[in-house]
Order: sequence, then C-alpha cells, then structure tokens
Amino acid sequence: MGLQWGDEGKGKVVDVLTPRYRVVARFQGGPNAGHSLRFDGKSFILSTIPSGIFRNGVINIIGNGMVVDPNTLVKEIHGLEAAGVDVMSKLYFSKKAHLILPTHRALDAAAEAAKGETKIGSTLKGIGPAYMDKTGRNALRMGDILAHDFKHRYARLRDKHIHLLGCYGFEYEPHKHEKEWFEAIDYLRKFAFIDSEYAINDYIDEGIPVLAEGAQGTLLDIDFGTYPYVTSSTTTCAGVCTGLGVAPTKIGNVYGIFKAYATRVGGGPFPTELFDETGKRLREIGKEFGSVTGRERRCGWLDLVALRYAVMLNGVTELIMMKADVLNGFDTIKVAVDYDLPDGQTNRFPYEVDGGTKPVYRELKGWNTDICNVRRWEDFPAEFKTYVEFIERYCGVPVMIISVGPDREETIIR
Ligand code: IMP
Repeated sequence: MGLQWGDEGKGKVVDVLTPRYRVVARFQGGPNAGHSLRFDGKSFILSTIPSGIFRNGVINIIGNGMVVDPNTLVKEIHGLEAAGVDVMSKLYFSKKAHLILPTHRALDAAAEAAKGETKIGSTLKGIGPAYMDKTGRNALRMGDILAHDFKHRYARLRDKHIHLLGCYGFEYEPHKHEKEWFEAIDYLRKFAFIDSEYAINDYIDEGIPVLAEGAQGTLLDIDFGTYPYVTSSTTTCAGVCTGLGVAPTKIGNVYGIFKAYATRVGGGPFPTELFDETGKRLREIGKEFGSVTGRERRCGWLDLVALRYAVMLNGVTELIMMKADVLNGFDTIKVAVDYDLPDGQTNRFPYEVDGGTKPVYRELKGWNTDICNVRRWEDFPAEFKTYVEFIERYCGVPVMIISVGPDREETIIR
C-alpha cells in the first residue's frame, strides 16, 4: 500500500518482495499509475501490468477493481515482449475488470477543463469517467470483449459519451481513436480471461502466497484522501477486498510504503510542501518528475500526522521506507508531528486540509553522509537510525525494509 500521495516506489518494493510470492495482483486504478523498476542496468515503468511480471513462475493478475485501457496495455505488453519478457503465459485478466474507452479520456479532459482553477490535475487517462460508468452501471467489462455483440454495446456507450461531450462543448471524432482501440482489443482476446476472485481464493486456500499491489496512495483514496483532490478508487487496504474478492480475514501482512520525505503531483492540499530552496533540492536529488505525465512533483518534509493516519486506515504491519538516500546531504531534517489549526493543535488528519493547516515540526539531526552503499542496518549512521526509530515510535509499526537507491540491490531488509 502507498501511504502518501502515490509515487512512493511501490513497483520496486513489489519486485523486491516477489521472490516470497507466487502471485501478484493489482486491485485498483489503471494507467494513471507508473510503477518504476530497475535491475540488471535496465529500467521499466509499468502502468497496468503488475510488477511481478519480470519474475519467472509468478502469475500476474489484473484484478476486477482495475480499469484497463486496451491501447496503453497493449503498448506495455509489446514493450515488455521486446525486452524479452514472456508476458502472455504470466498475465491473467479478471473478466470483471472495467474497460477505459477512448471517449473516457476525452471526458476526463472535458471535465478537468470545465473545473477551471479547481481542476484536480488528473493524469487524463480516463480513470474518473471509467469509474463513474462503473458505479453508474453503464460500463463495459473485460469479459464483454468476448461477447458476440461487443461492438454494439461499445457503440451504445460511445454515443452516450459523445452526447455528454457535446454538453461540455467538446467535439469528438470517434474514428480517429477507434481503430487502434479495436486492434488492441483483438490482441487482448488471446490472453486468459479468468474469474480472478475464484483463482485468488483457490491460491490462498492452497497456501500459495498472493501479493496485492496497490496503486496511487492512501491520501488519494476516494473516501479518506484529500477530497476532491483524489483519484476515483479505494487505494487503501479495503480495496484489496473489493478489488480482488478477498475477505478481510484472509489478509495477512500489510506492507505500508512511504518515502523518507513527501511528494505530491497534481492539485490539492499538501501541508508540509516546501516552496523554497529545500523543496527544489528534494525535487532535483529525488528526480521528482511524474513517471506517467512527466510533471514536476511538489516536494516537502515527511508528514507523520498523515503517515500515522494512513497506517491506521490500512492496518499496516510493516513499514517500508523509500528514497532514504535523497536526504543524505541535509544538516537538519524536519518531520511534522502535529498540525496547528485555527481551533487548536492536533495530531489527527483533519476533515478539511487547507491553507490553515500549519504543520508543527520536530527537527532531527541529518546524517550528512552517503548511505547508498550501506547494505546492513548495523552500518547506517546513528543519526539515520534515530530518524527511522522516531518514525517507528510515532507510527507504532516497525520499518522492516529501507531503500537507498532505485536498483533491486539497493535495499536493506531488517
Ligand atoms: P486521476 O487518477 O488520473 O484522475 O488523477 C487524480 C489525482 O491523482 C491527480 O492529482 C493525479 O496527479 C493523482 N494521481 C493519480 N495516479 C497517481 C499516481 O499513480 N501517482 C501519483 N499521483 C497520482
């Protein structure tokens, strides 16, 4: 689970954890995600495909809670195949995952344009409109691809979208986008379409370990994030239950992933955001530019009020700290431990997070040393250990994995 506003480094973590698992399943979101992995000198970004795809013998499932854009997915598959990855034998689709139509993307753009100054900063991948059609009970699902009247059902939904786009004052030429979309659909027909809720429960019953891979982050959750500046799905642990068909009693470890500082891309509140040189430094050292949209990420200090909120919502059992090395060169490091609100100080994440939410910081001494080559907990500088232990005490959960670089090898497991 991502515990912040996404981009915590979930792709790398899944890749590192995969040797412990035989199945990796994505349960929500879609091509708004961009999970980065690096190993053997090669880098990959995955949007729709689970990050277990590189490991032999690992089954990867696109769960029912996801929204799938055939165009992006097929491009992603071809990219992996060109790199020598055998995708077809390792990737299964839930029949109940939902489809993103070309018109969903257009609707995303139209809705954002209509919002003007209050725009969310959506990735414009059609995620919101696709989930709206799901809850509106209009949508097309992956399993519908196999139906004899699929084209007819598609046309009915497309026409409805074109009507809606007209209300936004948008003209839409379907023929520009449809050919590629239907070619992608034809390609996907060759893959295995499964009842993934049965498959996953069968694996669990047989004692085969399953890893659920989150996307986005807790603070972008449709219910608990900084609404309305959120994504359209349940990004917390509860999403695993609905997005894969797994009962809460079957969930074991919950790995909560966070960066040693904080970032956010798109609009919306961010109490510890830094607008000064330090924020710029974090962006440059951390290479904080969106992997999907290339946008600059907003940067700030670690917000422990928000982190503890996320730990609670997800029932995190183990914390995983990413990008610790980005803080290598700082004399002092701040963490928010409270918020100063107009009606007093609190350590609870408020209903309305806005300009009046002022973080109260604790200053810790920086380690001011390069920790990129450290591979054992014992070898970290004392100041670094103090930083980690402060976070553990505040959140009440141990930090079990620390990442000091993008490569698989740059990982310390305690
Ligand atoms: P949407 O999910 O594309 O509608 O975008 C809604 C908000 O979530 C925007 O602020 C996006 O920048 C943000 N967002 C969506 N997916 C991700 C992600 O994978 N990482 C970080 N931010 C994301």
